[in-house]
Amino acid sequence: MSPAEMSNQNFLWGVSTSAYQIEGAHDEDGRTPSIWDTFSHTPGKVANNDNGDVACDHYHLWESDLDLMAGLGVQGYRFSVSWSRFLSNGVTRNPKGIDFYNRLVDGLLKRNIKPFLTLYHWDLPKEFYDDRGGWLNPDVPKYFADYAAEVAKELGDRVATIATLNEPLVCSDEGYGRGTHAPGHKSYKEACVAAYHLLKAHGLGIRAMRSIRPQVPLGIVLNMNELTPVSSSSEDEAAWKRFYAYHNELYAHPIFFGRYPENLSSYLRENMPPITVEDSKLFSQPLDFVGINYYMRIQIKAGSNPPNFCETPKAVLPTTDMGWEIYPEGLKSLLLWVHNTYHPKSIYITENGAGLHDTWDGKSQIVADPRRVDYLKRHVRAAWEAKESGVPLNGFFCWSFLDNFEWGYGYAKRFGIVHIDYPTKKRIPKESYFLWKNYASGKLKP
Ligand code: FCB
Repeated sequence: MSPAEMSNQNFLWGVSTSAYQIEGAHDEDGRTPSIWDTFSHTPGKVANNDNGDVACDHYHLWESDLDLMAGLGVQGYRFSVSWSRFLSNGVTRNPKGIDFYNRLVDGLLKRNIKPFLTLYHWDLPKEFYDDRGGWLNPDVPKYFADYAAEVAKELGDRVATIATLNEPLVCSDEGYGRGTHAPGHKSYKEACVAAYHLLKAHGLGIRAMRSIRPQVPLGIVLNMNELTPVSSSSEDEAAWKRFYAYHNELYAHPIFFGRYPENLSSYLRENMPPITVEDSKLFSQPLDFVGINYYMRIQIKAGSNPPNFCETPKAVLPTTDMGWEIYPEGLKSLLLWVHNTYHPKSIYITENGAGLHDTWDGKSQIVADPRRVDYLKRHVRAAWEAKESGVPLNGFFCWSFLDNFEWGYGYAKRFGIVHIDYPTKKRIPKESYFLWKNYASGKLKP
């Protein structure tokens, strides 16, 4: 075994996507609408009024997509299951939808790629929204546990891991507080209730899956970023502490410690539903791994608006086209912090990547994306340094395999290491695809 292969042991290179962002086939084979179908079809909610009706058409092109992934040589693929494709209306087994995920999982295994499944990447079945507002409805966590059990029964014999939720903070914050994501509510009081129900869904989902498939590694995917106070004034320091508790700890603390973080703002302390003794046990069941999604540094300054009484000033460091500050060092310190604070058994970077505009000339075999290559190289390096410092980091999934429907930004933002020519659905690998291929094969060392 070469030294490169040795250092790659217990470490897996992967790529990541999510159902609504790539699948399309929104009304085919028994799939029923999710809150993202409703939201994206509401004029003015998504840039250019784009929607995920067709997206990358991965539902039809999955086989050639898996071939392209096999060509990349990655050992893992992180994807999400569309709840309302698997269970029509969120509750009824949908044989054709289930069959799609069976074929996908088998297709991955056939190509020696481990399936990393996420149950919920924001596409809540519409019926649950119509009935008492989705995550505001205390029954939704129970429906989620039923769904988790169905998926575990069906696919748990073949997947490498199952994560309950992707970035629950984004669901509660953007979906219910800021209103920039589905279902588009603008009430932080509601965001608090939604957050509590998301924690319940995680806990009930873990419990349901463990009883059915005790051997499947289970976890959750949390978004965390590097946060820094804009000055050393006591106001900005205090603001930073509040924001840190909200952004990096609101879910992690209940999940690892069974309680909310100490430094939440007074507003959040008043509005977050209390964690009972029962909840505390439910939320903090042992997990086999945690997935971390890391993208940027965010600066924090004291402000006057709830929930955090903070502002996030304009970027000073170079940014991606999302306006997100590029700060690879933050990934290293964040991983060390997660390791030292929560001691998870295993950590994966489940997302990291750059939203940058790249163009295809209509002829070339490769799309040039030097800025993404640079972004990824620097983040891989930082992650590797964390690993060498003792963080139990077991894999790095780049976001994203394909350019795709980037939520409120529609198709205007591209994160893929494979370019999609949307009119023809042609896939063209970018330079970053070859970078990733070299990491995956061990040819290139982090
Ligand atoms: C994350 C999401 C993912 C994608 C990236 C850019 O917050 O989980 O779906 O939108 O950001």
